[in-house]
Amino acid sequence: MKNYISFRDIENLEELISEAIELKKNNSASGLGKEKTLGMLFFNPSLRTRLSTEKAAKLLGMEVMVMNADKNGWALEFEDGAIMDSTKAEHIKEAAGVLSQYCDLIAVRAFPNLKDREKDESEQVMNSFKKYASVPVINLESATGHPLQALTDAITISELKKSQKPKVVLTWAPHPKALPQSVPNSFAEIMQKVDVDFVIANPEGYDLNPHITRDVKVFHNQEDALKDADFVYVKNWSSYENYGQSPEVDKNWTFDAEKLKGTNNAKVMHCLPVRRNVVIADEVLDSDNSIVIHQAGNRTFAAQAVLKRLLENKEN
Ligand code: CP
Repeated sequence: MKNYISFRDIENLEELISEAIELKKNNSASGLGKEKTLGMLFFNPSLRTRLSTEKAAKLLGMEVMVMNADKNGWALEFEDGAIMDSTKAEHIKEAAGVLSQYCDLIAVRAFPNLKDREKDESEQVMNSFKKYASVPVINLESATGHPLQALTDAITISELKKSQKPKVVLTWAPHPKALPQSVPNSFAEIMQKVDVDFVIANPEGYDLNPHITRDVKVFHNQEDALKDADFVYVKNWSSYENYGQSPEVDKNWTFDAEKLKGTNNAKVMHCLPVRRNVVIADEVLDSDNSIVIHQAGNRTFAAQAVLKRLLENKEN
């Protein structure tokens, strides 16, 4: 693996999932990352991604440097040929080049602005780091994807499934803010690569990018989709069609105990942070069906498996 910008950078997904589960079982410290440095740049807040990736790097023996790039860094210019006479003090060409002098791996989080779909889909920040850094780049959640989260989710389902081919439902839920489509995009992509029966439930107007969902069945009736579900992944996202908007929904899509009853005693997933009693009801989050904490715990092993692959590739 040369970079981890999308889960498509994984050469053998099944192998990587098994390796992450193995790392979880036998997580002794490794010297692979000795005298190597991971630099993490955050243009947006984070709890899980930041701490799990730092922990994963340290388990591999790496040094870690973290920067809240939105608050502490110079404002970056990403446009080629820009005349930089306004607020942007540093061009990505220099910033990525300089970071590559200090770091062996660079990890970046940069959310979309949810205003200009074409611009968000160009993944300008992530692709610019990839273009101008001379070391591997890792996506810590970008405009359109969250591949470390998706790998975690695939690991969690593989670890906890009780049948060879479980039914997995990704269901939309309400949220007071318009959120990116990054997590559901990456989850929908990775679920199409593993052995599950995968469907999506969302209100009309909230269909994800059809180039991502492809042939996945999309229900506009949540109850129908949830029938016989073994895993339910609850997540809000803003509209792709009316890009970044949150059109009103006539029914209640909050995932509560009544919805859970319509499943096959499903395990309930969410990437976190979760708005209690808006996205998922207390009675579900506090029940044995909720695996959100277990899922967040697996972030470390997903990150460790990815960092390990990138370091191994650098050595070869
Ligand atoms: N799930 C996730 O990416 O969490 P953070 O935003 O806290 O990193």
